[in-house]
Amino acid sequence: MTGPVLAVDQGTSGTKALVICPERGVIGTGFAAVRPRSLPGGLAEVDPAELYDSVVEAGRQALAEAREPVVALGLANQGETVLAWDPVTGRPLTEALVWHDRRAESACAELAVFEDELRHLTGLPVDPYFAAPKMAWIRRNLTREGVVTTSDAWLVHRLTGAYVTDAATAGRTQLLDLDRTEWSARALDLYGLSGERLPEVVDNAGPVGTTTAFGPEIPLTGLAVDQQAALLAQRITEPGGAKCTYGTGAFLLAHTGDTPRRGDSGLVSCVAWRLAGHAGYCLDGQVYTAASAVRWLTDLGVIKGAADLDAVGAAVPDSGGVTFVPALAGLAAPWWRGDLRGSLTGLGLDTGPGHLVRALCEGIAAQVVELADAAAKDLGAPLDTLRVDGGLTRSTLLMQTQADLLQRPVEVSALPDATALGVGALARLGAEPGLTVEAALPDWKPAAVYEPRISAEEAAERLAVFRREVTALLDRAPA
Ligand code: G3P
Repeated sequence: MTGPVLAVDQGTSGTKALVICPERGVIGTGFAAVRPRSLPGGLAEVDPAELYDSVVEAGRQALAEAREPVVALGLANQGETVLAWDPVTGRPLTEALVWHDRRAESACAELAVFEDELRHLTGLPVDPYFAAPKMAWIRRNLTREGVVTTSDAWLVHRLTGAYVTDAATAGRTQLLDLDRTEWSARALDLYGLSGERLPEVVDNAGPVGTTTAFGPEIPLTGLAVDQQAALLAQRITEPGGAKCTYGTGAFLLAHTGDTPRRGDSGLVSCVAWRLAGHAGYCLDGQVYTAASAVRWLTDLGVIKGAADLDAVGAAVPDSGGVTFVPALAGLAAPWWRGDLRGSLTGLGLDTGPGHLVRALCEGIAAQVVELADAAAKDLGAPLDTLRVDGGLTRSTLLMQTQADLLQRPVEVSALPDATALGVGALARLGAEPGLTVEAALPDWKPAAVYEPRISAEEAAERLAVFRREVTALLDRAPA
């Protein structure tokens, strides 16, 4: 069953859709914005209807531009965003709690004594970032009605009537047994979620159902959590490679082969994808605020937007002694201190917008280096490559800073929408039994390669300054 596929990436700040033709590449695109609300205390929520409407709107735009029928649909989701909904009517019963929402901190504090057990069982630390704490919080505080799931299960149900989640998204809940890729009775029990009717855990490629939400009837055959979809599109399917996607947050994933790698570096060990019942695994580290930190600088009037980073940064040669730990929504791996907030130090009367921009780029890049170092430690070998994608890779300043601090080449994907391309490949795999992963994936070539331009000593010095500021933050607010 060859032919174009519709690939939809439902992300935090918007939904992108591509119509991807196996021979001619992308022949249609669509985009619809989503506006999550940031509330005091690190809370973030979004109207679920906005998520669904944006999927339909972006998908219809892409199909209208392509003006060709598609043979399959793939849907990527944001991962740890959770809501309760009525499985009979499909009606949401709560707002969707967005992945970086911190309200489930108390549920996590209660489970701290089971941290080691849960980490071994599920690969994840106990942290409100993941879905299970939010699910437990909703059950305790909002409603006991209906089902409580990640946003993908609701979207898929609205689109097709099926009640499923894919193995990689299920792996973001802290309810999945990492080795067996099945719901864990023990984890459900610890979270007080034993009686829940959970979606069936399915492979990332395969028939799920059909939808007419975009007009013609289309089979849904590919499901993925967004970061893992980007890992696939970057063709990182063997141990040794890693990718970082610079979206709302920045997420570094390193493939670990067909067994989970449980290191002690603080990274998450999770399912990359499960195909024909066979799971591949990855390590995952997160920088909670990347494009959202750029938006924060924009809202303050320092820059006009992400497109301005390079021009404003170019006005000065360096950050002028300013250090920015952009933990505006806390720190994730390897520190797991979502309660912390950022710091900006070394300010003087001569500090200008260019210094702040450079300090922000260094702050994001330094966190990515921490994640790459942690992945190398868990893998027992340095990463061969860092392939990067996402909107912020358009900033030469950020990418050069990344290569400088990492002391390795940074390869920028020529495919700007890696997540959609990854789930598009899964949709093809699901629609064409017998197709290999290699054949389903788009060709990979870098649009640019950034080589380090500073010495290893200078990189180490700059990282040491950043680490000192992180340590100061940690010391000021002990866990
Ligand atoms: O874990 C959350 C992350 O996958 C969201 O990605 O692209 O919506 O910022 P993005």
